[in-house]
Amino acid sequence: MKISLEEAAKKLSRGEVVAIPTETVYGLAACYNQEEAIQKIYQLKNRPANNPLIMHISSLDDLNTFTRELPPSTKSLGETFWPGPLTLVIPIDPKTVPEKVRAHLHTQAFRIPAHPLTRALLKKTGPLVAPSANLSGKPSSVTHAHVETDFGNDFPVLDGGECQKGVESTILVFQEGKWYLGRLGALSAHLFQPILGYVPEELIGKKPLCPGQMYRHYAPKAHLHLGGDFSSAENILGFSDRKYPKHARLFSLGKSSDPEEVLHHLYSVLRKLDEEKIKSATLDIDVPKEGLWLTFLERIKKASGN
Ligand code: TXA
Ligand code: MG
Repeated sequence: MKISLEEAAKKLSRGEVVAIPTETVYGLAACYNQEEAIQKIYQLKNRPANNPLIMHISSLDDLNTFTRELPPSTKSLGETFWPGPLTLVIPIDPKTVPEKVRAHLHTQAFRIPAHPLTRALLKKTGPLVAPSANLSGKPSSVTHAHVETDFGNDFPVLDGGECQKGVESTILVFQEGKWYLGRLGALSAHLFQPILGYVPEELIGKKPLCPGQMYRHYAPKAHLHLGGDFSSAENILGFSDRKYPKHARLFSLGKSSDPEEVLHHLYSVLRKLDEEKIKSATLDIDVPKEGLWLTFLERIKKASGN
């Protein structure tokens, strides 16, 4: 159910949960200090309690509410990439954020989203915590219709149109004196080199593991085969500029030269498989192992359960 900006602000302040648009994917939002609403988010998504939430803020100064000391480069990262699809995980004063939000960790994930409607909303409500607006394990929502598919037609959604990026933010985690990649996302890792002086490495394999990263994710009901033999495939997730066997049905992800376009389409195409009750599909994974393609490869690996 579409609601106005004013209604969204009112509901959030009353302790309700509302879906909000961002430039990456839709979020399921609550005010950061409304514990019942936060509990409701976990219930609605069927999300494990050890998977913490990102706090959406409207300015770098908002960070001062949660910590006195920022890790090195926090300000330059924020000034360069915010508002935008970057999430920074930093140590905080744990008293300032409910335990449920941060899954008992003494760190908190923050980002300033770029969508104008949500920026206007944040000015009215203050910081909002929001995971992606999908059932846990399923593909994220990039339209208000996706949110309604997962949470019902009466669920309140601030409609901001189709999300521009279509894939989640890149997460950087500050740990042991360095920034690490907690999750690949809409920004590729080499973009951080000019600021950090190094390309952040993946946190995977380091302890503690980035919570929430160990589950099957982004997955449609269909069985997904990664690459391999297209000759016997009935359904192919592939590229509009490539040739596949004629008998197969092509679900196009866009051009093989344009990873941004492909990421923009990815979740809609994965959801389409469910809408059409497709049982199995083969994915074309013949893409360069660099830049934003790494985000694509990571998402489809998780979506296929690999
Ligand atoms: O683009 C996005 O980031 C979207 C929009 C709505 O902002 N949000 C999103 O949230 O993708 P979610 O909950 O689906 O994914 C957030 C991930 C969690 O899976 C978790 O791994 C990581 O952020 N995270 C959150 N807090 C953390 C923390 N304190 N330490 C390490 N990782 C954290
Ligand atoms: Mg998610």
